[in-house]
Parts: sequence; structure tokens; C-alpha cells
Amino acid sequence: MQGNFTYHNPTRLHFGEEAMKHLVGELKHYGPTVMLSYGGGSIKRNGIYDAVAAALREAGKTVVEDAGVMPNPTYEKVQEGCRLVRDHKVDLILAVGGGSTIDYAKAVSASAYCEEDAWEKYWVKQGWPSCPVVPIGSVLTMVGTGSEMNGGSVITNRKAGFKLGKVFGPDLYPKFTILNPRFTMTVPQYQMVAGFFDIMSHLMEQYFAGKADCTTDYLIEGLMRSLVHSSRIAAKDPQDYEARANIMWTATWALNTLLKCGKGGDWEVHQIGHAIGLVTDATHGMTLAAVSLPYYRHVMRDGLHQFARFARNVWGVRPEGRSDEQVATEGLACLEQWMKEIGLVMHSAELGVTEENLQAVADAVLILPVGYRTLTRDEVVDILRQSM
Ligand code: NZQ
Ligand code: ZN
Repeated sequence: MQGNFTYHNPTRLHFGEEAMKHLVGELKHYGPTVMLSYGGGSIKRNGIYDAVAAALREAGKTVVEDAGVMPNPTYEKVQEGCRLVRDHKVDLILAVGGGSTIDYAKAVSASAYCEEDAWEKYWVKQGWPSCPVVPIGSVLTMVGTGSEMNGGSVITNRKAGFKLGKVFGPDLYPKFTILNPRFTMTVPQYQMVAGFFDIMSHLMEQYFAGKADCTTDYLIEGLMRSLVHSSRIAAKDPQDYEARANIMWTATWALNTLLKCGKGGDWEVHQIGHAIGLVTDATHGMTLAAVSLPYYRHVMRDGLHQFARFARNVWGVRPEGRSDEQVATEGLACLEQWMKEIGLVMHSAELGVTEENLQAVADAVLILPVGYRTLTRDEVVDILRQSM
């Protein structure tokens, strides 16, 4: 049964090889000063920076450079960005990069004029901005997080000892996003497949939770099948435009709030992944890959109906003459086979989880009471051990 919900997504998307031609028109809706936020320099090497700079010039903008947003962006970096916004009275933050840069832009937008401790207010207490926020636009260069069309902002605060997500409301969704699949072609293979798994994880987090057998389940299964199909092609030939374009579009729909409508989500795999990311600074998608199978095998019996449905409808497992448990188990084996095929990290030890830091990782895991099963801390430790 589909539950009750309100759905509103204000992000305007421009998709395809010609998408950049819309940037100048978008920029014209905002005041004269644009903060150009980006990461460690990949956009300077692949030409995206030059294309964006040309659009900013054509739109007559004054540009405030804000480079160096790191993967797993830190709260310290957010505070630097806030100072730039205030000092230059920025009218628009243009985030050019992957999820880290876009998440960072949202954090800066909500925090620049916040008179309280922004970390406490947004990421710890999950409060809402009561100060003015700065509009954001984005040019996506790395596919996976869905940050291009949602309010998510995941920030690492090592002093506080947490990597936490905040889901802001539509005021902080990017006002517009440029989605050109060609821009993602220079993403290194490791990063690319990590992004593919991030998409799968977003789909599974929403599929294995809440109401069952609703329209949303059919939507998720369709997206999963498209992802599995195209990722097999892209993992072998990353320059295959059609596969990369399909994956880009799937990623946006996987986490733009449509799928949670009337269904909800689990998100415990992400909490464990964030704790690994906090301690090891590992790539987000790989942290999820390393813990997903141990987690799902652990909770499978608590949501057997849905795991058997996943096996049948996503992986084509034949149910005749077999128990739900046998079917569900085979579905997870198919997931494992696909993960190995596209080259994901299957063990958290490869990401830097050790017997020595395992308790620190477990301490940083937020346990959410919304999945098929609410974990105990001992169960978290067990899952982490199995993931190694
Ligand atoms: O720093 P640059 O030079 O840009 O290099 C990046 C970075 O090293 C590189 N890259 C990006 N586009 C490229 C490229 N390299 C070559 N060519 C290109 N076209 O890729 C590396 C990773 O980028 P990053 O933005 O960190 O990756 P991703 O998009 O996976 O973002 C990860 C962050 O998003 C959060 C994660 O926790 C993590 O902090 N998430 C955000 C979510 C949301 N907003 O809803 C949900 C997700 O579950 C996730 O938690
Ligand atoms: Zn994710």
C-alpha cells in the first residue's frame, strides 16, 4: 500500500550533451556576484572549468573563486566558504563537481548567515534554517549521490567525531542543475563504479523498508534493472555514452525524494558507511559496497517478503518449488556477483578498517530505528567484522 505524502521538487534540470547552453540563461536570474565552488582541480584538467568560466563571463558575473572542496567535505571548509559568502555578499553559489561540492554548497548556503552554531543546529539537532539562505546552482561532474536534485548535505566534523547528513527543504535544493553525461567521462574507474554502487544503495535503502508492494516498489525495481544493465556496459567501456547517460538519469531519480513518497527508507547501510568514511576517509560508494552484503544478510529474515521480491523482479530468480528464504538468498548472491563483476571493494579492510579502529567506527554509527530491524551496538560490531 502507498502511504500519504506531499511531493515537491523545485530543481530545474537541463540534461544532455547540449545542457551547458542553458547555463547563461540560468545565471541571469541572480544578482551580480557568483561564488564558484569546486573540488581539487579535475575541472581545470578536463575543460569544464573553462566552459563554466565562459558562461559566467557571458552573463556578466563577478566571480568569487572557492576551490579545494574535498571528498567527504569538512565543517572547517564549510566555515571558510561562509566567510567568503559574507565578505563578498554572494548572490549565487555555483557548485561544479560531484556530491561533495554540491553538499558543501548547501551547507555554506544555510550556515553563512546562521547566528547559532550551525553544526549543532542542522546536523546534530536536524533543525531548519531561520536565516536568509543563498541560492545554489550546480553543474554535475560525477554521478551517484543525487545531490543535484535533493536537499541532502553530508558533512564530516572530525572534532565532533561524526560524519552526518542533513536533509534540507526545497529552499536549499539546487535551483538548477546542468547534467551532461560527457562531463562524467573523465571520472576515474574506481570513483565511477563507487558512484554506481551509491545509486544501487540509495535504491536498496528505500526498497528494503516501509510499505511493501506499492507503486514505488515497481519504480525502484525498474531503476535497479536499468542500473544493472547499463553499469555492466559502462564498467567495460566507460566511454559508452548511452550507458553513462542512462546511469546519470537513474542516479538523479534514485534520490530526488520521489521514491521515499509514501514508503520511507532504512538508511542504516549509509550510517555504517559514514562511520567508516569518518575514520578512514574512504570513498563513499565503496564504504557502502563493503558493508551492504553483511548488513542485508543480517536483516534478510526480518524482511523476507521484500528480499524474495527483489530476487524475482530485479535478478530474475525463479521461485517455483522453493521457499522465500531460498529465493531471497539467491537474490543476494546475484547482487554479490554483479558487485564483483563491476569491480567494487568487497571488504572494509581494503578501505582501512582494522581490529584496532573497529570500535571507533562502531562508536560513530548512528543507529536508526526505522528499518526492518533496529540494530544493537553488538550487531553493528558483528556486521563490521563480517565486512572486513
Ligand atoms: O575534487 P575533484 O577534483 O573535483 O575530484 C573529484 C573527487 O576526487 C573526482 N571527480 C569528480 N568529477 C570528476 C572527477 N574526476 C575527474 N573527472 C570528473 N568529471 O571524484 C572524486 C569524488 O568526488 P565527490 O564529489 O567526493 O564524489 P561523490 O559525488 O560520490 O560525493 C560523495 C559525497 O556525497 C555524500 C557522501 O557522503 C560524500 O560525502 N552524499 C551525499 C548525498 C546527498 N546529498 O543526498 C547522499 C549520498 O548518500 C552521500 O552520502
Ligand atoms: Zn549514498
